[in-house]
Amino acid sequence: MKLQWPEGLDEARFLNEYWQQKPLLIRSAFKDFHNPIDPNELAGLSCEEDANSRFMQHTGNNEWRLCEGPLSDDFFDDVTGNEWSLLVSDIEKLLPDFRQYLEPFRFLPDWRIDDLMISYAPVGGSVGAHVDQYDVFLLQADGVREWRIENTPRQGVQPSVSNTIALLGDFLADETWQLQAGDMLYLPPQFAHHGIAVDEPCMTWSIGFRAPSIDEMLPEVVNYLLESVQSKQRFQDIKRPATHQPGLISQTDLIAIKAILSQALTQDDSTLSQWIARYLTEPKEIQEPDEQPVNTISTDAIVSNLKNSAVLTCHSHKRFAYTQQDNHTTLYADGQAYDCSEILASAICNQRSVGISDIDKNSHDLDLLATLFNKHIVLFEDHE
Ligand code: SIN
Ligand code: CO
Repeated sequence: MKLQWPEGLDEARFLNEYWQQKPLLIRSAFKDFHNPIDPNELAGLSCEEDANSRFMQHTGNNEWRLCEGPLSDDFFDDVTGNEWSLLVSDIEKLLPDFRQYLEPFRFLPDWRIDDLMISYAPVGGSVGAHVDQYDVFLLQADGVREWRIENTPRQGVQPSVSNTIALLGDFLADETWQLQAGDMLYLPPQFAHHGIAVDEPCMTWSIGFRAPSIDEMLPEVVNYLLESVQSKQRFQDIKRPATHQPGLISQTDLIAIKAILSQALTQDDSTLSQWIARYLTEPKEIQEPDEQPVNTISTDAIVSNLKNSAVLTCHSHKRFAYTQQDNHTTLYADGQAYDCSEILASAICNQRSVGISDIDKNSHDLDLLATLFNKHIVLFEDHE
C-alpha cells in the first residue's frame, strides 16, 4: 500500500509544512483501497476479551451514552436508532496482519505511532464534534463520511464523556469535505472535527499518534533516577553574604536550587536516555490474554529453526526500538533494555522479523533471542 501525496507534496514537505501544524485533505491517498474487514467482523472483535472497544450513542442534545468494551455478544440486539458509532482501537495488535497498513506511515518513527483504530457508523452516526490530543490520519475505508473541521486549534479542552473524549458544544465548521474510500484527512492535535456517515454506513480507520506529556513522564523519570543516580547531593551556600532581609528567599538561592534540580535530571545522560527508551517501549495498557508460561527454548533450537528457514517475528502487542550511542547498540523491547548487535536490533525494530542472516555470530545475539523468545516477546511465525 503506497501513500499517494497530492501533486507537489511528498513526505519531507508534508513534515515541514503540515505535520503538527495544519490539516491536510488527501484525495485518493490510497488508490483502489480495499477494506479487508466488514462491520460484522468489527462487532465480533469488539466483544473479544482483549479488545479495546467503545460504543458511543447520541442520546439527546449534548448527551452521549458510552459503553466501554469488551461488549457482550448480544449487545447489538438492543441497539436502536442510527446515531451511534462502534470504535475498536489497537487493531494491529489484535490482528497482526493489519500491521502492514501502518507501513506507509513509517516515515514517522514507530515510537510515535499509537495504534490503528477502526470505527463503524450507520448513516447519521458519529462520535460528535470533538478534539483529540494527538495527530491522526483519518482514512476513509468504506462508505462516505462528511468531515467538518475548524481551521484553528483549540486550547485546553478537557475530555468530557467519562474522561474518554473531549466533546464540544460550540463547534463551528470552517471546512466541510465528503471523503470516499481511499481518501484521507490528516489532523494535528487540538483541531476540532466532526465526522458523520452520510448516504451509506461507513467505516473509518484512524492511524493515531502519541506524544508523551510532561505530567505523565515526570513522576516516572524521577522515580527511575532516584533509584539509579546519585541523588543525595544537597544545596550548599559556602561564602554566602550576610542578608539584611532574612525573610527573603533570594534570587541567588532560587537559581542555585533550580540548578541542582535540573542537574539531577541531566547529570547522567546515558541513564536518562535509557529511561526514555524504556518508557517509550513500555506496553500499552490493553487487556492481555491470560499470562503464558515462560518458554524454555535453547540457543541451539533457535539456530536450528532459523537454519530451517523459520523466521522469528515480533509479538504484535509489544513495542520495540533501539538506540545507538557511543558505538553501542541497545535494544528496547517491552520496556526493558538489552545489549544487542546493530544488525539484530535493526532486524527486530525496522523489519519486525529475524532470519538466520540477521544475527551477528560474534555477539551474544543468540542468547538474547532465546531470552526474548522465552519471554514471548518474539515468536516463530504463525504462532502468535
Ligand atoms: C470515528 O472514526 O468515528 C472517529 C475518529 C475521530 O474523530 O478521531
Ligand atoms: Co477525533
